[in-house]
Amino acid sequence: MNEQRDTSADSPKGDYVLLAIETSCDETSVAVVRNGREILSNVISSQIETHKQFGGVVPEIASRKHVESITIILEEALREANTSLEDIDAVAVTQGPGLIGALLVGVVAAKSVALALDVPLIGTHHIAGHIYANHLIGDIVYPAIALVVSGGHTEIVLLESEGKFRIIGRTRDDAVGEAYDKVARALQFPYPGGPYVDKLAQEATEEVVLPRSWLEPDSYDFSFSGLKSAVLSEINRSRMKGESPDFSALARGFQQSVIDVVTGKAIKAAKEFGARQMLLCGGVAANRGLRERLSSLCEEMGLPLLIPPNKLCTDNAAMIAAAADLKWRRGQFSSLDLKAEPILSLEDWSV
Ligand code: KG4
Ligand code: ZN
Repeated sequence: MNEQRDTSADSPKGDYVLLAIETSCDETSVAVVRNGREILSNVISSQIETHKQFGGVVPEIASRKHVESITIILEEALREANTSLEDIDAVAVTQGPGLIGALLVGVVAAKSVALALDVPLIGTHHIAGHIYANHLIGDIVYPAIALVVSGGHTEIVLLESEGKFRIIGRTRDDAVGEAYDKVARALQFPYPGGPYVDKLAQEATEEVVLPRSWLEPDSYDFSFSGLKSAVLSEINRSRMKGESPDFSALARGFQQSVIDVVTGKAIKAAKEFGARQMLLCGGVAANRGLRERLSSLCEEMGLPLLIPPNKLCTDNAAMIAAAADLKWRRGQFSSLDLKAEPILSLEDWSV
């Protein structure tokens, strides 16, 4: 709707530099990326310390913090990249999905820069960014299956070809990161608790076996709320008996159940759709147990796997540049009346 398609344009030739802005949740990030893949800078300012005291992200505070830091982070990203604004060929920004007030800050900043420099603006899908973070570390071979596991999303995405997204499975309730954070809270860890649960699960010597939510046999959808409830009821059961719950055995049980289901479904999808590559992405891709299991399953079936390093798994602007590059190379730019969209279809954002 907001997009101006200039299909007559050939792929731009020669070196080009994209400035990318990401403010969809609680990270203010600006990156400078050359030729869609070479990260010159990727500055990330996390608000975690602020939100920690509330046990989760407070949207209004997130917006205000983005306003406070966006120009500072922008200047820092340019400085680190040893670039000036005049070198920027286009401005990419996360258009959605995300928190509306948070997205707005990035969108307004991006429009201002694009207008001032008279360069194209590229509204970018946050999940496309998570998926194409993999393009910053290696070549993507199609068809590919992307397992997207983040704080707000859990999806299996089929990429038939470059930039063509088809969601074949999604969560019906909590996102996997959200489930991690809720379980972490029950285990008395601070927000965001995913990394603590991961560490505790790795160290555990015992495991409380918890249910696996496979849903219907042919479904690629997920559901994690029952698993989260199972953890809570195990804690309550122990306390009712006057015992102290075994947190590490519960963390392990939770993590094993999540890993079995997400990797099981991703591998099944790879087989069904003849994938030539598996892509893991999103904040939960930083999970050690998940990385290890998916690596060994892919290795067993001879399926190449890409997993970005942790810094490119959690929210960052370099991944937004990597996805925006799909549109840049096709001359598909956004108009300056681009709107921040809290809900935005990934499939419709396809090139
Ligand atoms: O992708 P992301 O930075 O933000 C969203 O777009 O949602 O993901 C953040 C999520 C949080 O829920 C956090 O707890 C989770 O990723 N996370 C982890 C780990 N590291 C981050 N979950 C499990 N294990 C980890 N090691
Ligand atoms: Zn994200």
